[in-house]
Amino acid sequence: MNPVFCAIDTPDLERASALVDSLQGKVGGIKLGLEFFLAHGAAGYRPIAAKGLPIFLDAKLHDIPNTVAGAISSLLPLRPAFITLYASGGAAMMRAAAEAAAKAGADRPKLLAVTVLTSLDSGDLEATGQDTDTKRQVVRLAKLAKESGIDGCVCSPEEISVLRDALGKDLVLMVPGIRPAWAASNDQKRTLTPRQAMDAGATHLVIGRPITKAQNPAEAAGRIAEELGLHE
Ligand code: C5P
Repeated sequence: MNPVFCAIDTPDLERASALVDSLQGKVGGIKLGLEFFLAHGAAGYRPIAAKGLPIFLDAKLHDIPNTVAGAISSLLPLRPAFITLYASGGAAMMRAAAEAAAKAGADRPKLLAVTVLTSLDSGDLEATGQDTDTKRQVVRLAKLAKESGIDGCVCSPEEISVLRDALGKDLVLMVPGIRPAWAASNDQKRTLTPRQAMDAGATHLVIGRPITKAQNPAEAAGRIAEELGLHE
C-alpha cells in the first residue's frame, strides 16, 4: 500500500481537483486541511473524495468533549480515512471523539492526535504554562492519546523513533516534513526522505510541495513511490 498522502494546500477548487485527478494511482491518499475545508466545506470535499483516494482530513479539532464528538459525527457522512484532533484537548475529549467515530463501524475514520506543533519550541511552551521539554511533552500527549482510544499521531520526522518506542508497533504515525533527496526543502528544516521516514517507523507520509509544485506532479509522485519500492 502506498503510504503517501499528498497535501493539497490550496483553496482553489479547480486546481485541487485537477491535481487529485493527476495523482490517481500514484499516491495512497490526499490530505485536505483547514485552508481547503474552511473555504469549501463538505460541498467542496465531496467531489474530491468521490475520485476514490482515501482522504486525510486535517481538521485539528479542539473543544469540549461534547462539541468535538458532535464535530466528528458531522464529519462521518464524508467518510474520511483520518481526522486530526489536538491531544491537548485532554483525555475526556479524545475518548468522546473515539466513541463518536466508532459509531461508523468498520468504516470508521481513524483519529490522529496532534501533540506539540513543530512551530513551537520550549520557550513557547513555557509561555503557555507548559514548563517542559518539547520532546517530553510530545511523548506525554501521545501516550495520553493512546490511552484515550486514539489511533495514532501526526509527528515530525525527528519524533518518529521516540514515539514508536513509547507507543509500540500498532499506532499510526503520519509524518509531514518529508523531502525526497531531489526536492527543495522549502520552509521545512529537519526533514527525512520518504525511505528514511518509513525505515524509522512511520506508517504514512504527508508530502505536499515536492509533488504539487513539481512541473509534473504525477511523475514526482511516481518517483517517490518507486523510491519506496512500490511498483504499479
Ligand atoms: O509542502 P510540504 O510537504 O511541506 O507540506 C507538508 C504538509 O504537512 C502541509 O500541509 C503542512 O501544513 C503539514 N504539516 C507540516 N508540519 C507539521 C504539521 C503539518 O508540514 N508539523
